[in-house]
Amino acid sequence: RAGHALGIDVRRVPTTRNDFKADVGAISSKIDDNTIGIVGSAPCYPFGVFDPIRELGALAQARGLWLHVDACVGGFLSPYVKRLGHALPDWDFSVPGVSSISADLHKHGMAAKGASLMMLRSKELKEKYQTFDFKEWERGPYVAWTMQGTRPGGAVAAAWATLQHLGDEGYLRCARMIMDNKKGLLEGIARIPGLAVLEPSELSIFVTRSADPGLDIGAVSDAMGTKGWLIGRQVEPPGIHMHLNPSHERMVGDYLADLGWAVGEARRSGLRSGPAGSTY
Ligand SMILES: Cc1ncc(COP(=O)(O)O)c(C=O)c1O
Repeated sequence: RAGHALGIDVRRVPTTRNDFKADVGAISSKIDDNTIGIVGSAPCYPFGVFDPIRELGALAQARGLWLHVDACVGGFLSPYVKRLGHALPDWDFSVPGVSSISADLHKHGMAAKGASLMMLRSKELKEKYQTFDFKEWERGPYVAWTMQGTRPGGAVAAAWATLQHLGDEGYLRCARMIMDNKKGLLEGIARIPGLAVLEPSELSIFVTRSADPGLDIGAVSDAMGTKGWLIGRQVEPPGIHMHLNPSHERMVGDYLADLGWAVGEARRSGLRSGPAGSTY
């Protein structure tokens, strides 16, 4: 969307490897003299997997390019999940070549929507690329760091209050709950014949797919809908997309029971369902 607004050509590269991660060779082959930067996810939203940020950092350095890491999903979660002992790839400013990182306060920062984070590696980068400093105004210098300029501070204050309230311990507790919820769900799904979870799944997102040609996952989603579940429908490959937060703790048992029932319904009806209603 930013590329569209700024008139920047975005070259998307298919994830040709079967692990759904960015193909560094393919990205490299798309770079030309007009390229200003490359982007990797940590992790991406559709599959919840990390792109190889270390390799992308090396590529960015070799070609003199900006590397932005989209850690909107993982920014506030990955450090804590790592502290709990899970192995995760490197993705932050410890990786040479990373110039900027985005992290969503409204996702695993646990704050309300309306405030988010964009971090730059150094003050110099901020001054050079993010600061709008207009000095020829009768009222005095006008300096702004966001596209919006004047904006309400309520969401920022609310996010700050959430950070203070949860603190380091709170975020660790949230991370533990999320990973426990995931474990419970994955174990339960593995016990339902005909379902499988797309691998790898490295953080708080996973996709459930059909492992049986006779079972349509869209029909399973439809059946879940009749029980009142709001199902995230993955289009490619077809599946049920789930992004976990701590409050899912109370629904793990009910969800698995209804999922088992929905699989039976889908098999019984033999219906097939397209990705209708899958708009994000
Ligand atoms: C991986 C990822 N990047 C970025 C965003 C943020 O997008 P938006 O421009 O809607 O804030 C999201 C979702 O909100 C996301 O999941």
